[in-house]
Amino acid sequence: MTAFGFRPGAAGLNPAAPADPAEEVLGPDATVDLAAARARSGIDEVLSALDRELVGLVPVKTRIAEIAALLLVDRMRERFGVSAPRPTLHMCFTGNPGTGKTTVAMRMADLLHRLGYLRRGHLVSVTRDDLVGEYVGHTAPKTKEVIKRAMGGVLFIDEAYYLYKAENERDYGGEAIEILLQVMENNRDDLVVILAGYADKMGRFFSANPGMQSRVAHHISFPDYTVGELEQIAGLMIAGLGYRFSEEAKVVLRQYLNRRRDQPWFANARSVRNALERARLRHARRLLEQADAPVGLDALTTIEAVDLLASRVFETRESA
Ligand SMILES: Nc1ncnc2c1ncn2[C@@H]1O[C@H](COP(=O)(O)OP(=O)(O)OP(=O)(O)O)[C@@H](O)[C@H]1O
Ligand SMILES: [Mg+2]
Repeated sequence: MTAFGFRPGAAGLNPAAPADPAEEVLGPDATVDLAAARARSGIDEVLSALDRELVGLVPVKTRIAEIAALLLVDRMRERFGVSAPRPTLHMCFTGNPGTGKTTVAMRMADLLHRLGYLRRGHLVSVTRDDLVGEYVGHTAPKTKEVIKRAMGGVLFIDEAYYLYKAENERDYGGEAIEILLQVMENNRDDLVVILAGYADKMGRFFSANPGMQSRVAHHISFPDYTVGELEQIAGLMIAGLGYRFSEEAKVVLRQYLNRRRDQPWFANARSVRNALERARLRHARRLLEQADAPVGLDALTTIEAVDLLASRVFETRESA
């Protein structure tokens, strides 16, 4: 029984679906062109975009490439009539804030769609409040509605451990977990659930919910970025915004990142993005303050050291 009466997943709905009933089963002596299948699937575009656009995260990228390979090889095996149950792809992403979990989950949804694993390949991102109600009878419809929206794609549950409150017996989170467990088992060919959050809290959540632990096939951890990686991320982000750093600004950026990393509320790549937004504000104000001189493209697109040095990050060290 599925958790509710909506179960698509018919292969015919998906143009990329592996099992094409019209396709003849190949004989044992036939061969298939793996390279051509790979090119047709478009996975290389996703994987190389992932490599280009996301700095670091080597273990994460490796795992994604392995999953892609597995799904492609599974499709080739099916051509010969060798069928294994579809692999379970529910995942858990652990890591500190701003380490790329949400970003990678979106890429994953796209990849799984291209490989014919997911019909739609969209991502529905939720937290406890989207799933758990406040009164009796409120939680099940809420959770089912979210699952319905996510069908054919990825259901991304951020800070998943808040679903479970050990200290509160009358909490409705348990009800949401029960429904999720059923769907993760029964609809695993049409929905991928990704649980995300901090490693230690997630560990405690799994200890208290072994059913959840056993349904998650991939535990992927997102390490904090090194200063060098944060510099590269800043470079990508600033280029994406149509700016560049002056040579002096690059030096100050490194000092900034070294200091920022040791301060409270550091959120890896998200802190870099926020710092760059503030640098843009200071850059614009600086240009307007010097508005009597003519301004060229270079001035309009160059972040200077002063735009970063005005940050509070540089004050605290001196006053400390
Ligand atoms: N490796 C990376 N390379 C380039 N940009 C990155 C990288 N990782 C994260 N970013 C950027 O940093 C920002 C934050 O990333 P994201 O939201 O994916 O982090 P998160 O792990 O989901 O954080 P949180 O736990 O706070 O939700 C996004 O703008 C994302 O594009
Ligand atoms: Mg996130």
